Amino acid sequence: MTPADPHSRPVLSDGLISLRPLRLSDVDDITAACQDPQISRWTAVPSPYARSDAEAFIARQATDEMEGIEPTWAITVVPDPRWSGSITLHLDGAAGADVGYLMAPWARGAGHATRALRLACTWGFSTLSLQVITWHAFVGNEASLHSARRVGFQIPPHVFRSYGSQRGHRRDSWVGTLTPEDLAAASRIGEARREYLGPDLTRRERDVLTHLAQGQANRTIASELGISENTVKNHVRSILEKLQASSRSEAVVSALRLGLVSLPG
Ligand SMILES: CC(C)(COP(=O)(O)OP(=O)(O)OC[C@H]1O[C@@H](n2cnc3c(N)ncnc32)[C@H](O)[C@@H]1OP(=O)(O)O)[C@@H](O)C(=O)NCCC(=O)NCCS
Repeated sequence: MTPADPHSRPVLSDGLISLRPLRLSDVDDITAACQDPQISRWTAVPSPYARSDAEAFIARQATDEMEGIEPTWAITVVPDPRWSGSITLHLDGAAGADVGYLMAPWARGAGHATRALRLACTWGFSTLSLQVITWHAFVGNEASLHSARRVGFQIPPHVFRSYGSQRGHRRDSWVGTLTPEDLAAASRIGEARREYLGPDLTRRERDVLTHLAQGQANRTIASELGISENTVKNHVRSILEKLQASSRSEAVVSALRLGLVSLPG
C-alpha cells in the first residue's frame, strides 16, 4: 500500500474530542497553557514561554514542509472549537513516527489526551501506513505513562538513561512502542472491560457523577471541584453518552445500579 500524503489529513473525531489543524487564533490559549509548570517540567517547550513562541509554533506547523514531516493537530473538546491541547506525529520517513502531546491544564483529567493519542495513532497506521509509533516521557511523568499504556503502547519497566533532551540537558526516560496490532489489542481489551465492568469513566467523570448523585447543580459542582461550569457541562455530556442516559437522573440511576457511585449516607 502506498502511504498517503500527510498534507491531506482530515479533521479527526471520535464524537467527544476532535483533532483539527492549528489556527492563528489559538495563540492566546497556547500561550496561557504553556505557562503551566507541568508543561515546562515534562516537555521541551521554551520556558519561560512567550506569546511569540506560540506564534512561531503555529507558523512553523502551517508550512507545507512541516505538514509532511510533523503532522500536528489542535485537540478540541466537542462541540467547543477552542484549542485545548496539541498532538504531533514526528515522522521518520521510514514508516515510523514519534508522538508528542500536551493538554491545557483546564482540559486535563477527562481522558482527552488518551482519546487524542488513540485518534492520531489510528490515523498514522491507517492513512500513512506507519508500522510503529514511539512514545517517550521523562521518568516520573505518570499521567503520560498512563495515557500511553491505555492506548496500547508496550513500555518496558526499565529506564532509558539520558534518552530524552530538554532545553540543552539530557534526561532519563521511559520509552514505548506501538504497532497496529498493539492498538487493536488495547481496543479489544477496552471493549471487553466495558462489557464486564460497565462504562469506562475517567477520574474526573467519577467525581462529577458523585456530585450529580447528590443532586448538585453544575455551578456548585464547578466550584467544589475548582473547574469551570463549561467543563462540568462537558463532563456531564460525556457521562450521559457513556451511560447511554437521556437525563442526569437517568445517569444517576444507571450509575447506582452499576455500583459506580453510592448515595451519601
Ligand atoms: C500527560 C497529559 C497530556 C495527560 O492529559 P490528560 O488529558 O489529563 O490525560 P487523561 O485524562 O487521558 O489521563 C490519562 C491517564 O493518566 C492518569 N493520570 C492523569 N493525571 C495523572 C497524574 N497526575 N498522576 C497519575 N496519573 C494521572 C489518568 O487517570 C488516566 O489513567 P487511566 O486511564 O488509567 O485512568 C497532561 O497531564 C499534560 O499535558 N501534562 C504536561 C505535558 C506532558 O506531560 N506531556 C506529555 C509529554 S510525554
